Amino acid sequence: MTQHFIVIGNPIAHSKSPEIHTLFATQTGIDIRYQRQYCPDDEASFIAVIEAFFRGGGVGANVTVPFKQVAYDCCLARGGLSEHAKVTGAVNTLLLNKTLLDNGASVAEAVYGDNTDGQGLVNHITSLSWPLDGAHVALIGAGGAARGVIMPLIESGIATLTIANRTLNKATDLVNELSNASPIINEQQIKTCRTAELSGQFDLIINATSIGLSDATLPLSAALNCQYAYDMMYGRTLPFLQHFAARGAQISDGYGMLIGQAALSFEHWTGHTIDVAQATKILNKS
Ligand code: ATR
Repeated sequence: MTQHFIVIGNPIAHSKSPEIHTLFATQTGIDIRYQRQYCPDDEASFIAVIEAFFRGGGVGANVTVPFKQVAYDCCLARGGLSEHAKVTGAVNTLLLNKTLLDNGASVAEAVYGDNTDGQGLVNHITSLSWPLDGAHVALIGAGGAARGVIMPLIESGIATLTIANRTLNKATDLVNELSNASPIINEQQIKTCRTAELSGQFDLIINATSIGLSDATLPLSAALNCQYAYDMMYGRTLPFLQHFAARGAQISDGYGMLIGQAALSFEHWTGHTIDVAQATKILNKS
Protein backbone atom coordinates (compact mmCIF):
# COMPACT_ATOMS: atom_id res chain seq x y z
CA MET A 1 0.00 0.00 0.00
CA THR A 2 1.32 3.47 -0.90
CA GLN A 3 2.34 5.49 2.17
CA HIS A 4 1.73 9.24 1.94
CA PHE A 5 4.09 12.01 3.10
CA ILE A 6 4.26 15.78 2.64
CA VAL A 7 6.57 18.71 3.28
CA ILE A 8 4.68 21.82 4.42
CA GLY A 9 6.13 25.29 3.82
CA ASN A 10 5.67 28.74 2.33
CA PRO A 11 7.28 29.03 -0.17
CA ILE A 12 7.60 25.35 -0.98
CA ALA A 13 8.19 24.98 -4.74
CA HIS A 14 12.00 24.93 -4.26
CA SER A 15 11.96 22.07 -1.72
CA LYS A 16 14.22 19.14 -2.57
CA SER A 17 12.57 16.87 0.02
CA PRO A 18 10.36 14.94 -2.48
CA GLU A 19 13.40 14.03 -4.57
CA ILE A 20 15.39 12.96 -1.49
CA HIS A 21 12.60 10.86 0.07
CA THR A 22 11.73 9.24 -3.25
CA LEU A 23 15.34 8.09 -3.51
CA PHE A 24 15.18 6.72 0.06
CA ALA A 25 12.01 4.81 -0.88
CA THR A 26 13.77 3.29 -3.89
CA GLN A 27 16.76 2.34 -1.70
CA THR A 28 14.53 0.61 0.85
CA GLY A 29 11.93 -0.84 -1.55
CA ILE A 30 8.98 1.06 -0.05
CA ASP A 31 6.04 2.41 -2.04
CA ILE A 32 5.59 6.09 -1.10
CA ARG A 33 4.11 9.30 -2.42
CA TYR A 34 5.87 12.42 -1.07
CA GLN A 35 4.46 15.82 -2.08
CA ARG A 36 5.13 19.50 -1.54
CA GLN A 37 2.28 21.14 0.41
CA TYR A 38 1.89 24.91 0.20
CA CYS A 39 0.18 26.47 3.24
CA PRO A 40 -0.90 30.09 3.88
CA ASP A 41 1.31 31.68 6.53
CA ASP A 42 -0.98 31.52 9.55
CA GLU A 43 -1.40 29.07 12.40
CA ALA A 44 -5.04 28.15 11.69
CA SER A 45 -4.22 27.18 8.10
CA PHE A 46 -1.23 25.11 9.24
CA ILE A 47 -3.34 23.19 11.76
CA ALA A 48 -6.11 22.64 9.20
CA VAL A 49 -3.58 21.26 6.69
CA ILE A 50 -1.92 18.81 9.07
CA GLU A 51 -5.19 17.59 10.58
CA ALA A 52 -6.65 16.96 7.11
CA PHE A 53 -3.43 15.19 6.07
CA PHE A 54 -3.32 12.79 9.03
CA ARG A 55 -7.10 12.21 9.03
CA GLY A 56 -6.74 11.25 5.38
CA GLY A 57 -4.29 8.48 6.30
CA GLY A 58 -0.99 10.40 5.89
CA VAL A 59 1.97 8.75 7.63
CA GLY A 60 4.41 11.62 8.17
CA ALA A 61 5.15 15.25 7.32
CA ASN A 62 8.19 17.47 7.21
CA VAL A 63 7.83 21.08 8.26
CA THR A 64 9.92 23.90 6.86
CA VAL A 65 10.05 27.72 6.96
CA PRO A 66 8.02 29.49 8.37
CA PHE A 67 6.13 26.80 10.29
CA LYS A 68 8.71 25.10 12.54
CA GLN A 69 7.69 27.07 15.67
CA VAL A 70 3.96 26.79 14.92
CA ALA A 71 4.45 23.03 14.54
CA TYR A 72 6.15 22.99 17.96
CA ASP A 73 3.16 24.76 19.60
CA CYS A 74 0.76 22.44 17.82
CA CYS A 75 2.52 19.24 19.02
CA LEU A 76 2.98 20.62 22.55
CA ALA A 77 -0.81 20.96 22.76
CA ARG A 78 -1.46 17.56 21.11
CA GLY A 79 0.66 14.40 20.79
CA GLY A 80 3.92 15.60 22.41
CA LEU A 81 7.50 16.41 21.50
CA SER A 82 10.87 14.64 21.36
CA GLU A 83 13.66 15.92 23.61
CA HIS A 84 15.43 17.62 20.66
CA ALA A 85 12.20 19.35 19.59
CA LYS A 86 11.56 20.50 23.18
CA VAL A 87 15.00 22.04 23.58
CA THR A 88 15.05 23.64 20.14
CA GLY A 89 11.49 24.98 20.35
CA ALA A 90 11.01 23.91 16.73
CA VAL A 91 9.68 20.86 14.88
CA ASN A 92 10.69 19.63 11.42
CA THR A 93 9.13 16.14 11.52
CA LEU A 94 5.53 15.20 12.31
CA LEU A 95 4.13 11.72 12.93
CA LEU A 96 1.33 10.18 14.94
CA ASN A 97 1.93 9.11 18.55
CA LYS A 98 0.85 5.45 18.43
CA THR A 99 0.60 5.10 22.21
CA LEU A 100 -1.91 7.94 22.34
CA LEU A 101 -3.89 6.47 19.42
CA ASP A 102 -3.95 3.05 21.15
CA ASN A 103 -5.27 4.79 24.27
CA GLY A 104 -8.19 6.28 22.35
CA ALA A 105 -6.86 9.69 21.28
CA SER A 106 -8.14 11.07 17.99
CA VAL A 107 -5.72 11.51 15.08
CA ALA A 108 -5.71 15.29 15.62
CA GLU A 109 -4.84 14.82 19.31
CA ALA A 110 -1.97 12.45 18.50
CA VAL A 111 0.20 14.64 16.23
CA TYR A 112 3.77 14.33 17.60
CA GLY A 113 6.82 16.43 16.74
CA ASP A 114 10.54 15.74 16.45
CA ASN A 115 13.46 17.83 15.24
CA THR A 116 16.10 15.99 13.19
CA ASP A 117 17.95 19.07 11.83
CA GLY A 118 20.77 19.14 14.38
CA GLN A 119 21.35 15.39 14.39
CA GLY A 120 21.37 15.55 10.57
CA LEU A 121 24.28 18.01 10.81
CA VAL A 122 26.17 15.85 13.33
CA ASN A 123 25.65 12.72 11.21
CA HIS A 124 26.91 14.49 8.10
CA ILE A 125 30.01 15.83 9.86
CA THR A 126 30.69 12.33 11.22
CA SER A 127 30.28 10.82 7.74
CA LEU A 128 32.95 13.25 6.48
CA SER A 129 35.27 11.76 9.18
CA TRP A 130 35.64 15.19 10.78
CA PRO A 131 36.26 14.42 14.49
CA LEU A 132 33.74 15.88 16.96
CA ASP A 133 34.77 14.06 20.14
CA GLY A 134 36.90 16.51 22.16
CA ALA A 135 36.68 19.16 19.42
CA HIS A 136 36.79 22.93 19.98
CA VAL A 137 33.89 24.24 17.92
CA ALA A 138 32.75 27.75 16.97
CA LEU A 139 29.18 28.31 15.85
CA ILE A 140 28.40 31.60 14.11
CA GLY A 141 24.78 32.71 14.43
CA ALA A 142 22.18 32.68 17.20
CA GLY A 143 18.92 32.35 15.26
CA GLY A 144 16.71 29.32 14.64
CA ALA A 145 19.30 27.42 12.62
CA ALA A 146 21.99 27.78 15.31
CA ARG A 147 19.57 26.89 18.08
CA GLY A 148 18.70 23.57 16.41
CA VAL A 149 22.25 22.26 16.34
CA ILE A 150 23.54 23.16 19.81
CA MET A 151 22.15 20.17 21.73
CA PRO A 152 23.22 17.52 19.17
CA LEU A 153 26.71 19.09 18.99
CA ILE A 154 27.08 18.93 22.78
CA GLU A 155 25.79 15.33 22.77
CA SER A 156 28.40 14.42 20.14
CA GLY A 157 31.13 14.95 22.76
CA ILE A 158 32.69 18.25 21.69
CA ALA A 159 34.97 19.84 24.33
CA THR A 160 33.96 23.49 23.97
CA LEU A 161 31.46 25.55 22.01
CA THR A 162 31.90 29.25 21.25
CA ILE A 163 28.78 30.94 19.91
CA ALA A 164 29.50 34.11 17.97
CA ASN A 165 26.80 36.48 16.78
CA ARG A 166 26.52 39.95 15.28
CA THR A 167 24.12 40.82 18.15
CA LEU A 168 25.87 39.55 21.28
CA ASN A 169 22.87 39.52 23.61
CA LYS A 170 21.00 37.13 21.29
CA ALA A 171 23.83 34.62 21.77
CA THR A 172 23.91 35.04 25.57
CA ASP A 173 20.10 34.83 25.81
CA LEU A 174 20.16 31.66 23.71
CA VAL A 175 22.71 29.99 25.99
CA ASN A 176 20.73 30.96 29.11
CA GLU A 177 17.54 29.65 27.61
CA LEU A 178 19.00 26.33 26.42
CA SER A 179 20.85 25.66 29.66
CA ASN A 180 17.54 26.10 31.50
CA ALA A 181 15.82 23.76 29.03
CA SER A 182 18.32 20.90 29.17
CA PRO A 183 20.69 19.64 31.90
CA ILE A 184 23.21 18.49 29.26
CA ILE A 185 23.75 22.09 28.13
CA ASN A 186 26.24 23.46 30.60
CA GLU A 187 26.95 27.19 30.54
CA GLN A 188 30.58 26.50 31.61
CA GLN A 189 31.20 24.66 28.33
CA ILE A 190 29.82 27.47 26.15
CA LYS A 191 31.33 30.90 25.52
CA THR A 192 29.77 33.75 23.57
CA CYS A 193 31.25 36.70 21.68
CA ARG A 194 30.55 39.09 18.80
CA THR A 195 31.23 37.61 15.35
CA ALA A 196 33.94 40.17 14.56
CA GLU A 197 35.69 39.30 17.83
CA LEU A 198 35.81 35.55 17.22
CA SER A 199 39.50 34.65 16.94
CA GLY A 200 42.00 31.86 17.56
CA GLN A 201 42.32 28.30 16.30
CA PHE A 202 39.22 26.02 16.26
CA ASP A 203 38.89 22.45 15.07
CA LEU A 204 35.58 23.26 13.41
CA ILE A 205 33.72 26.48 12.58
CA ILE A 206 30.06 26.27 11.54
CA ASN A 207 28.20 29.10 9.83
CA ALA A 208 24.57 29.02 10.97
CA THR A 209 23.75 32.60 9.95
CA SER A 210 21.43 33.48 7.08
CA ILE A 211 24.10 35.71 5.52
CA GLY A 212 24.48 33.39 2.52
CA LEU A 213 21.03 34.57 1.38
CA SER A 214 22.34 38.14 0.97
CA ASP A 215 25.35 39.81 -0.66
CA ALA A 216 26.83 40.72 2.73
CA THR A 217 29.91 38.97 4.11
CA LEU A 218 30.69 38.07 7.69
CA PRO A 219 33.27 40.27 9.44
CA LEU A 220 35.80 37.47 10.11
CA SER A 221 38.97 38.25 12.06
CA ALA A 222 42.33 37.63 10.34
CA ALA A 223 43.26 35.78 13.55
CA LEU A 224 40.49 33.18 13.11
CA ASN A 225 41.49 29.74 11.79
CA CYS A 226 40.13 26.23 11.68
CA GLN A 227 40.81 22.77 10.32
CA TYR A 228 37.22 22.25 9.12
CA ALA A 229 34.63 24.82 8.00
CA TYR A 230 30.95 23.97 7.52
CA ASP A 231 28.23 26.21 6.09
CA MET A 232 24.67 25.10 6.80
CA MET A 233 23.55 26.73 3.52
CA TYR A 234 23.87 24.95 0.19
CA GLY A 235 23.18 25.40 -3.49
CA ARG A 236 25.13 28.66 -3.99
CA THR A 237 28.69 30.03 -3.79
CA LEU A 238 29.45 30.57 -0.13
CA PRO A 239 32.12 33.23 0.65
CA PHE A 240 32.43 31.80 4.19
CA LEU A 241 33.69 28.49 2.78
CA GLN A 242 35.91 30.18 0.19
CA HIS A 243 37.50 32.23 2.99
CA PHE A 244 38.52 29.16 5.01
CA ALA A 245 39.43 27.00 1.98
CA ALA A 246 41.96 29.73 1.05
CA ARG A 247 43.41 29.32 4.55
CA GLY A 248 43.85 25.56 4.12
CA ALA A 249 40.69 24.25 5.83
CA GLN A 250 38.59 21.33 4.61
CA ILE A 251 35.10 22.63 3.77
CA SER A 252 31.54 21.44 3.31
CA ASP A 253 28.21 23.05 2.53
CA GLY A 254 24.97 21.92 4.16
CA TYR A 255 23.53 19.69 1.46
CA GLY A 256 24.60 16.57 3.39
CA MET A 257 22.84 17.99 6.47
CA LEU A 258 19.64 18.29 4.45
CA ILE A 259 19.94 14.65 3.39
CA GLY A 260 20.90 13.63 6.95
CA GLN A 261 17.84 15.26 8.56
CA ALA A 262 15.62 13.73 5.87
CA ALA A 263 17.10 10.28 6.49
CA LEU A 264 16.31 10.54 10.22
CA SER A 265 12.71 11.57 9.47
CA PHE A 266 12.34 8.67 7.02
CA GLU A 267 13.75 6.25 9.59
CA HIS A 268 11.26 7.45 12.25
CA TRP A 269 8.34 7.04 9.85
CA THR A 270 9.21 3.73 8.24
CA GLY A 271 11.68 1.94 10.54
CA HIS A 272 14.09 1.54 7.59
CA THR A 273 17.70 2.70 7.85
CA ILE A 274 19.09 4.85 5.04
CA ASP A 275 22.55 4.56 3.52
CA VAL A 276 23.16 8.33 3.66
CA ALA A 277 26.60 8.23 2.02
CA GLN A 278 25.22 6.35 -0.98
CA ALA A 279 22.13 8.58 -1.21
CA THR A 280 24.34 11.70 -1.07
CA LYS A 281 26.51 10.42 -3.94
CA ILE A 282 23.45 9.81 -6.12
CA LEU A 283 21.77 13.12 -5.25
CA ASN A 284 24.98 15.10 -5.85
CA LYS A 285 25.02 13.76 -9.39
CA SER A 286 21.36 14.51 -10.14
P1 ATR B 1 17.54 31.27 10.84
O1 ATR B 1 16.21 30.65 11.19
O2 ATR B 1 18.01 30.99 9.43
O3 ATR B 1 18.60 30.98 11.85
P2 ATR B 1 17.19 33.87 11.99
O4 ATR B 1 16.56 33.23 13.19
O5 ATR B 1 16.60 35.11 11.42
O6 ATR B 1 17.26 32.85 10.79
O7 ATR B 1 18.73 34.14 12.34
C1 ATR B 1 19.62 34.68 11.41
C2 ATR B 1 21.05 34.68 11.98
O8 ATR B 1 21.94 35.18 10.97
C3 ATR B 1 21.24 35.57 13.19
O9 ATR B 1 22.25 35.02 14.01
C4 ATR B 1 21.71 36.89 12.54
O10 ATR B 1 22.43 37.73 13.39
P3 ATR B 1 21.65 38.76 14.38
O11 ATR B 1 21.12 37.91 15.51
O12 ATR B 1 22.68 39.72 14.82
O13 ATR B 1 20.54 39.37 13.56
C5 ATR B 1 22.61 36.34 11.46
N1 ATR B 1 22.79 37.27 10.35
C6 ATR B 1 21.91 37.56 9.35
N2 ATR B 1 22.44 38.50 8.52
C7 ATR B 1 23.66 38.81 9.01
C8 ATR B 1 24.70 39.72 8.60
N3 ATR B 1 24.57 40.50 7.51
N4 ATR B 1 25.84 39.76 9.33
C9 ATR B 1 25.99 38.98 10.43
N5 ATR B 1 25.05 38.10 10.87
C10 ATR B 1 23.91 38.02 10.18
